[in-house]
Amino acid sequence: MQIRSFGRRRALTQLGAIASVFMAPRALSERSAAAAADWCGSAEIAELRIPGEDGWFGRLAPRGSPLALTASPGATPAAPWAISLAARHRGRRYRNPTLTFETGERAQIALENTLDEATIVHWHGFTVDTANDGAGMVLAPPAGRYDYDFIVRARSGLYWYHPHPHGLTAGQTYRGLFGMIVVEDAEERALRTALDVAWGKTDIPLLLQDRRPGPAYTPDAADLHHGFVGNLATVNGSCDARLDVATRAYRFRILNASNARTYRLGFADAAGRSIPFTLIGTDGGLLAAPLRCDECFLSTAERIDIVLDLSGARIGDAVQLETREFDPMHFDAPAAPGSPATGHVHSHAGEAPSGDATTARETPWPEGSARRLLTLRVRQRATWRGRIPAQLSTLAMPAVSGAKERPFRLGFAKGSWRINDRVFAMDETPIEVARDASEVWLVRNYHTSMPHAMHLHGFQFRVLERETSPDALAPLAVDDKGRLATDLGAKDTVLVWPGESIRIAIDFRHPFPGTQTWMFHCHNLEHEDGGMMLRMKVG
Ligand code: C2O
Ligand code: CU
Ligand code: CU
Repeated sequence: MQIRSFGRRRALTQLGAIASVFMAPRALSERSAAAAADWCGSAEIAELRIPGEDGWFGRLAPRGSPLALTASPGATPAAPWAISLAARHRGRRYRNPTLTFETGERAQIALENTLDEATIVHWHGFTVDTANDGAGMVLAPPAGRYDYDFIVRARSGLYWYHPHPHGLTAGQTYRGLFGMIVVEDAEERALRTALDVAWGKTDIPLLLQDRRPGPAYTPDAADLHHGFVGNLATVNGSCDARLDVATRAYRFRILNASNARTYRLGFADAAGRSIPFTLIGTDGGLLAAPLRCDECFLSTAERIDIVLDLSGARIGDAVQLETREFDPMHFDAPAAPGSPATGHVHSHAGEAPSGDATTARETPWPEGSARRLLTLRVRQRATWRGRIPAQLSTLAMPAVSGAKERPFRLGFAKGSWRINDRVFAMDETPIEVARDASEVWLVRNYHTSMPHAMHLHGFQFRVLERETSPDALAPLAVDDKGRLATDLGAKDTVLVWPGESIRIAIDFRHPFPGTQTWMFHCHNLEHEDGGMMLRMKVG
């Protein structure tokens, strides 16, 4: 079903249905719902959708009871996605629920597939065994199902789920089969009290996804090579969204759910001056200590947890969450005729276009160009009674002195992005790790490459150092190891720039019997589907 085939009139007649599916704390006005129905096609600014207690991204806490998620055609005029995961729980209906777990909780989830292609859901950032990892080695066929049963071992933080059937991951994710996961524990609750923030009001998840008009996924050869970038910036499914705020602190947990785009995120006032924020967490939960930042790069699949203090703002101020200009460094060598990159036009400074301008895709938002993502309108006075604790959590560092260093090279050859010159094969497991080992991985990206967001299943890791990083990262380095603020937390995804080497430390201890198999891959979903992925066994 094409969302755009809905006339405005028809969309309006469906408002009742939409409103009952998507209950934001602030009910959508008719006007903004109509704008959402015409999402991104309208000049009107849409109200930010905030996940409520049901509907789109509604918070669903199974609390130990079994749950069914149904992959289904999901088009509604209120959202840009063609497919979604529907759920019913305790009388409420959800689409792409924000699953909320307590650390240590048992999750029993049945995935029911009503789509006409196989799918499987992966719990990104979780430590689960192969049978529950949903990495493509198991599938729910059309009209079939897959049953998960695992313990949530993650630290408190923002995680997410998305499809992972090899070769179909990018399209199914783009078309809407994903959602957020919030893991909580006592430490998280104490922090929320200290911060004086409340989920859904002043503690708000922001899900970034760049899109093209319409729900379809239609990559061309250049998209498959570089990654599929859209020309529309959506936040929680709305284009150019706004949020009314008060003069107090807000916590934002930001997930980059884009197929391929990296953002350089910051806040700015109306005069364009940068407003600093405080980074309190990364992919795998809270940092040890908060860090003041002006901006952070956020590649696909990465998350940041931040606090923005607007106590000093004035009523009437507008603060933008924006992505700033940067050199996207698509330095992959000009393609040979007939190879996937032919005809792609680079639009950033410092590199001559490699194709004919007339073949440029209609992408007026090339990667690395600036865009406003969300407008915070300061409407109300308030007193913030919270504070950011000087110590947030404790973080383990794997014991890696004297540990073996495992090299990985990222590059392109014979039509494919590769890791160690290999392309993914379901029957090959090139990475073999001894049970309970701690290792250092040295991940090097060629100069004639592009940035790759490298993701490891099953384990959070720590970034030890960055070497030969691009000049653009130098002002963001927070220590003499070249690390960025976001490198100081627990990570499951790290962006490796062209010419750069990154050392990460991984503790491979796991509680599962026998040998388990996980994946290491680039999270640019077109690269992943194209085979920039390796199997790893630990046992
Ligand atoms: Cu976000 Cu292999 O996963
Ligand atoms: Cu993952
Ligand atoms: Cu890549």
